[in-house]
Amino acid sequence: MSDNKDMELIDENGKRLDGREFDELRDIKIEAGILKRADGSAYIEWGKNKVMAAVYGPREMHPRHAQEPSKAVVRARYNMAAFSVPDRKRPGPDRRSVEISKIISEALEEVVFVEMFPRAVIDIFIEVLEASAGTRCAGLTVASVALADAGIPMSNMIASCAAGKIDGHVVLDLGKNEDNFGEADVPVGIVPNTDKITLLQMDGNLTKEEYEEAMELAIDACDEIYEIQRDALKVRYSTTLEDHGEPDDEIEKIQEEA
Ligand code: CDP
Repeated sequence: MSDNKDMELIDENGKRLDGREFDELRDIKIEAGILKRADGSAYIEWGKNKVMAAVYGPREMHPRHAQEPSKAVVRARYNMAAFSVPDRKRPGPDRRSVEISKIISEALEEVVFVEMFPRAVIDIFIEVLEASAGTRCAGLTVASVALADAGIPMSNMIASCAAGKIDGHVVLDLGKNEDNFGEADVPVGIVPNTDKITLLQMDGNLTKEEYEEAMELAIDACDEIYEIQRDALKVRYSTTLEDHGEPDDEIEKIQEEA
């Protein structure tokens, strides 16, 4: 986010520089079950973002003093690969990745049935392989699919997306230049089909009306993203059936529905 208006983000035809409408998402593809040795896993391509999530657990929490006697700890670790951004990112945790890990852990704890696993930990590793704005939303979205893939009992997945403001217009899903040179960015995470918001941050300034407009855009987009999350699980489930020798017509039916 910057007050430095040295880049026009809307062209003379009133379009965003990548040709998208104000309320249009970048392309999103999700694949579940990409890693054999993880208990659950998923991969997302969201515009130019490429992000992977691996879930391990529930398993005994170490160190033991970090155990919670009446529930499991949901421990997400967000990490950006050194090669994921144009200027090499210094490896290891920094203030930003600690913050993002915390907000993703807290968002996911809202949907996981943590009381079922006292003293346990559910580890979620989120690895950003290529970054181009919106990686916390992509990370939370893909982590939810990986948790479901691991068979972790949860009330629902979380879908996440940002909206914001560029050149005076409220828009959905800011790209890299829009994030850098825009006026505001509001990442949102919701439990679909409920009114529950589990992640909400704001960078920049919006009026009350603009904020409400941004929230509406982001929440509507989360419903779209939720469909893509569910489809990834349906495809994964039909592949698992194939492995177990289920009849082809059953599998085709599931794949067609997805
Ligand atoms: O990725 P997200 O929008 O959730 O977080 P951000 O802190 O607003 O970062 C926006 C973008 O800046 C990232 O997605 C990266 O493309 C870029 N970035 C970078 O180039 N180098 C960093 N050390 C951190 C972020």
